[in-house]
Amino acid sequence: MANFEIVRREDFSDVTYLLEVRHPLMAKAARPGQFVIVMLNESSERIPLTIADFDRVHGTITLVIQAVGKTTKQMQQECTVGTSLFGMVGPMGIPSETSHAKKVVCVGGGLGVAPIYPQAREYKENGAYVIGVVGFRTKDLVFWEDKFRAVCDELIVCTDDGSVGIQGLVTLGIEQAVANHPDIDEVVAIGPPIMMRGCAETTRAHGIKTMVSLNPVMVDGTGMCGGCRVKIGDKVKFACVDGPDFDGHLVDFDDLMQRLRRYKEQEAAATEQWEESCRVRRALDIVGDTAR
Ligand SMILES: Cc1cc2nc3c(=O)[nH]c(=O)nc-3n(C[C@H](O)[C@H](O)[C@H](O)COP(=O)(O)OP(=O)(O)OC[C@H]3O[C@@H](n4cnc5c(N)ncnc54)[C@H](O)[C@@H]3O)c2cc1C
Ligand code: FES
Repeated sequence: MANFEIVRREDFSDVTYLLEVRHPLMAKAARPGQFVIVMLNESSERIPLTIADFDRVHGTITLVIQAVGKTTKQMQQECTVGTSLFGMVGPMGIPSETSHAKKVVCVGGGLGVAPIYPQAREYKENGAYVIGVVGFRTKDLVFWEDKFRAVCDELIVCTDDGSVGIQGLVTLGIEQAVANHPDIDEVVAIGPPIMMRGCAETTRAHGIKTMVSLNPVMVDGTGMCGGCRVKIGDKVKFACVDGPDFDGHLVDFDDLMQRLRRYKEQEAAATEQWEESCRVRRALDIVGDTAR
């Protein structure tokens, strides 16, 4: 596998960071809604990450990552400008359908703000009226507001504590958009499953089509392992090849959330083991420095 150089890094908070990675071919092929599978090094696990942006001119792909467990924390520690990812496969998944809607609400919650951006941009390029609704816990966690303002006709920022924008969840932002625009064709929501479920329930009451991007545990990303099985109405789908976008009104979110919790014990053990090895390495470094 080739190595993929990190050409830019930005830290949005203690746990959220952006990596811009050189991959001209992927930048050429990428479409909104697609994702990549990344390997930090030769022995790392493979993790799926949404393509948060792509730059065809500079040949780069942007990833926005939340450090939640072993691999994402290790990447946060090791991925600096000039280093490389061992592997990056993609673009994977079916691109989002953005050609039909005339008025659309693009909703991103927390980390979901990053992957909703390329969709908002493509809707705008296709001539739609785009209302962005982005939600964060507090003002300090807000990122890409300028990027969104550049592609949205209206932007509603929501914070849990009201430190900027309206106080409340993104569902409140959706209600506000719907109250002002009775002709919304579609809502697209990306974020934690609980947030996407909230968005789908909000729009169900108004009969507005709602697409969500699902994030089940993925292993191969090719439809072979069955790890990313999701229930959509009375059908079973594989999010890696049939999605990751699905009709939010049909998704069985309880099943999704239950499956996401399945490996909690093993994930906690892997994180603990890695943190312990970091502590040992630091202690050995200190001993080495003292001896020198
Ligand atoms: C299509 C898709 C797109 C995603 N895009 C992003 C993104 O843009 N940015 C981002 O920060 N995260 C994204 N994720 C989630 C990301 O893959 C997980 O946070 C990551 O795999 C966690 O690995 P870890 O070792 O750091 O943590 P772990 O401790 O191993 O896991 C923490 C939690 O992450 C989830 N998870 C673990 N392994 C996987 C896996 N192989 N596939 C999916 N979820 C997993 C589980 O809910 C788990 O409880 C995406 C997931 C999917 C399926
Ligand atoms: S990740 Fe294996 S089937 Fe989707």
